[in-house]
Order: sequence, then C-alpha cells, then structure tokens
Amino acid sequence: MKKDLLKMLDLSSEDIFEILNSADQMKYNLKHGIAHRVLEGKTLAMIFQKSSTRTRVSFETGMYQLGGQALFLTHNDLQIGRGEPIEDTARVLSRYANGIMIRTFAQEEVETLAKWSTIPVINGLTDFSHPCQILADLMTIREYHTALEGVKMAYIGDGNNMCNSLIVGALKCGMKMAVATPKGYEPHADILKFAKDHGGEFSLVNDPMEAAVSADVLVTDVWASMGQEDEAKKRMKDFAGFQINNAIMQQAHSKAIVLHCLPAHRGEEITAEVFEAHADVIFDEAENRLHAQKAVMARLMGAQQA
Ligand code: CP
Ligand code: NVA
Repeated sequence: MKKDLLKMLDLSSEDIFEILNSADQMKYNLKHGIAHRVLEGKTLAMIFQKSSTRTRVSFETGMYQLGGQALFLTHNDLQIGRGEPIEDTARVLSRYANGIMIRTFAQEEVETLAKWSTIPVINGLTDFSHPCQILADLMTIREYHTALEGVKMAYIGDGNNMCNSLIVGALKCGMKMAVATPKGYEPHADILKFAKDHGGEFSLVNDPMEAAVSADVLVTDVWASMGQEDEAKKRMKDFAGFQINNAIMQQAHSKAIVLHCLPAHRGEEITAEVFEAHADVIFDEAENRLHAQKAVMARLMGAQQA
C-alpha cells in the first residue's frame, strides 16, 4: 500500500479487503474490551477547512482508542489560512506529528501535502473524493450482505465526491454499480475512464428508476455539497425526482439496504420515511467510520497492523 490514502483510486482490491478485515477486527476488539493501542504515543494532525461531525469525532476518538492523540486544526487558525504554502506546512507537521488528516476543497491540495510530507496523509474529504467514508460503507455492506462480490449498488443523485469514490470502491470489490444523475451532474471524467477501463458491471443513466432495478444497496447524498451552497436553489430544481423514496425502493431487491454518509436532507435526496426505515443501517455506517479509519491509521502509521 502507498504511504498515503488520498483517494480510492490509490488502493488495490487487496488493500481494500485487508483494511476491511482489519476494521472488522478493530470493531471486535473494541466491543470485547481487547486492548489495541497500536499507535501508543503517536499524534495525528487534523486539518479542517470544512465543517464535520463524523470525520472529526471518529478520527479523534479513534486515535485515542489506539493509544495516540489527535490535534484539531482549522484552516483559519493555521498559518495556511494566511497564505503559508502547503509545501511548508507539510514539512513542518512532518517534524511534529506521525500522520495528517485533511478535509479541504481541492484534491490537488491534498496531493501536494502528501508529496511534501514524510508522514502519511489521509484524505478526510475533498470535492473529488471521500475514501474513508467509502471504506466504512463497504464494511457496512459486508456486515449486511455477508460479501461484496456480485452485490449491486445503485447510487442516485449528484455525481460528487461520494459518487466518484463509491464507483471505484464498488468496482474494485467486484460489486455491480449503477449510477443515476441528472444531466450535467455526472461523476468526474477520470472516474468514468476508470469504470470503462476496469471492465466491471457499470452503468450511468439519467433515470433513477432504471438504476434502482434489483439493487441490493441504494445510496444517495446531498444535492448540494459543502461549498455549493450558492447553487442550492438551482440544484433543487435540477435534482427533482432524484430521491430515494418508496417508489425507488419498490424497484430494488426486497432486502435492499439504504446507505447515506450523512448529514441527510430529508425531503430532498431521501424521504423521512425511507430514512427512518433504514436508520439502523445508516447509523451502523456512521459508526463504521471509526473502525475503518482506525484500520487505515494502524496500517499507515503503526509499526504493525491490527
Ligand atoms: N459523512 C461525513 O463525512 O460526515 P461529516 O461531514 O460530519 O464528517
Ligand atoms: N458530498 C457531501 C458529503 C458530506 C460528507 C459534501 O461534500 O458536502
């Protein structure tokens, strides 16, 4: 595995399954009171340029459970917010900490940070990618469907960071993937190229009903991501119909599960009824962020794997 986790494209199928197995073990250890302090004395610097509940709390708690500590650093409090180059920030943090987690806008910023850091960098969400969330999603799907191979995922909504990363994660794990977005909101061109070259079962359509047929897993995300608030009104119109509701659920497999990375906007991308009917899975998914990220940190920052 590479030094960093910057996007799902960086992980091989083998890497993903090893992380998922380690995450299952982390979860087991935590639930059974088995010590797993594999990052004793280590520090994770966490840089946030966007809001967060799950990512911040799960990384911070995860580091603590692994025997280390996490530093919550916002862009505005750091000198980056006053123009200090990312290259210098990378070299400075590399002298103090053992890993960096960053949540920001441009994927390039994360790639630059990783290039200039001698310590591992973990992407906690960019406009392009959200790899930690996808590892938690795959972990959750395995818990409910036992395996990933051959399981059909349907993603309905914006071709955003979540969609980009889910396509890569699903196809690398042998899942079937159907995506429905409105015209003009398709996933990133690099991701569509990956899907084409990968040769797995992948479809991209503009009809949510079509994508949902026989799905085992239905996934959606907000219509306007962080940083797109100004476009929210326009998006509301453009995304009408791209909602997980009872009609969509009827197209899917009767035992289909629903995932949402959260925060959710009930009445927009998902109805309150469908959300509550699948709340157990959705909050397992949120919990699994903790276990999946601990597996990633142990792998990248630890002397040994958990
Ligand atoms: N899903 C997710 O990343 O949540 P936060 O924005 O709360 O971190
Ligand atoms: N697509 C959303 C995901 C939030 C976890 C965003 O980027 O805001």
